[in-house]
Amino acid sequence: MRRITVLGVGYVGLVTAACFADLGNQVICLDVIEEKIAKLKRGELPIYEPGLEEMVQRNAAAGRLVFTTDYAQAIPKAEFIFVAVGTPSGVDGEADLKYIRTAVESIARHLDGYTVIVNRSTVPVGTGDSTAQTLIERGKKQGVDFQVVSNPEFTREGSAVYDFLNPDRVVLGSVDAEAAEAVAELYRVFTKNIMITDLRTAEMIKYASNAFLAMKISFVNEIASICEKLGADVKLVAQGMGADQRIGAAFLNAGLGFGGSCFPKDVKALTYMAEVNGLHPQLLRAVMDINRDQRRRVIVQLRELLGNLRGKTIGLLGLSFKPNTDDIREAAAIDLAHMLANEGANLRAYDPVAMENAQRVLDGVKFCGDAYQVAAGADAMILITEWNEFKQLDMPRVYDAMAHKVFLDGRNVYDPAEMRAHGFEYRGIGRPLSGTTTDSGRQTTEEMATASVK
Ligand code: UDX
Repeated sequence: MRRITVLGVGYVGLVTAACFADLGNQVICLDVIEEKIAKLKRGELPIYEPGLEEMVQRNAAAGRLVFTTDYAQAIPKAEFIFVAVGTPSGVDGEADLKYIRTAVESIARHLDGYTVIVNRSTVPVGTGDSTAQTLIERGKKQGVDFQVVSNPEFTREGSAVYDFLNPDRVVLGSVDAEAAEAVAELYRVFTKNIMITDLRTAEMIKYASNAFLAMKISFVNEIASICEKLGADVKLVAQGMGADQRIGAAFLNAGLGFGGSCFPKDVKALTYMAEVNGLHPQLLRAVMDINRDQRRRVIVQLRELLGNLRGKTIGLLGLSFKPNTDDIREAAAIDLAHMLANEGANLRAYDPVAMENAQRVLDGVKFCGDAYQVAAGADAMILITEWNEFKQLDMPRVYDAMAHKVFLDGRNVYDPAEMRAHGFEYRGIGRPLSGTTTDSGRQTTEEMATASVK
């Protein structure tokens, strides 16, 4: 049992805190926003993350997970302090470190014994060193000994608890081998694959990993645009590519591009770090450009199919940046809603869990109770987030409810042949514009592998 404090109760902090408490550690969670802490004390979560609420409630009830806004309660007795505060994008894409600075200052003020400070927030390469420097200077004056370890997180929202408990690897960066080893000990129960590096390298691993995954998505989206022009089907192209173990099948789903709190922010921050060091990170810039264009192309397509969009009714299915989360940060749906509103379109929308968050940022959108209400009188429907409940819609019912029968499938969820058989003017991303391409009866990857062996 170790005494752990976690600063920040966002997706990263809360998952870290709950999972460590679940192992039997004594965890204090601190956030400066009183409303969030008050909610957590009542057993309510400030965010939606599958499996997390039950884990938080159970560990809070057992007394292993405590919530506070008081640094004097959270810091002095902690053996490990995990910093998981936000690092939003600044004006030039650089990471804004104001929350990190406040956290570090507050930690410094309250430290009173040997402590390992573990940074889980994504910070510009070099921040670990400067944080360590600030704390070392403070510590010397106070006669307190401590170390700084960088511990980037690789958990996906929507499956964050699973990812935390089943990591592919754990990366730890530190100048102090003993401190890194102490943190490694906390994680050994999850994996033996623990990599210990210097601080800067650990921070860079996080950026490089996220930029690479974002690049895979933008790559397949560029291929999708080319497929559309040439009459090829990107879904099958990605399947064929992904079967090559050197490429891998993950993150090759063409669609409306990536959103969320990590990919856009981290690619921009890495670009900024390269630029201010005199480099020209063209590949990183292209990753962001392609992602933006994926959204713009929807407007172009709708204009082609419906003419002027002024006064047209467009239905949006899904608002969160991906399924199983209520997070709308950098979500394709929010970008599209703004672009469509600028065109003068009337918008109707539904999302299983993200409507409350979306209502805060979108004006003039009619929020509906389900997909069928969205379809009522719509000239076009756009599937934006591939929630399970959209995968088996009663399509004849959707068709009947709509005024015009345009259906843009922004995540390639539906079978083009089936949708066209229902009568829709159906468009996927990177799929032949007409014809009878079907998802069923395709060779599986396994069958393809056997066929090639034969
Ligand atoms: C990501 C990383 O996966 C995680 O390791 C990191 O710590 C935080 O950022 P997350 O943002 O939660 O996690 O979501 P992820 O599942 O990676 O998806 C990101 C975005 O990419 C979503 O908008 C998703 O719709 C999109 N995406 C993903 C695609 O468009 N195509 C794909 O093939 C995969």
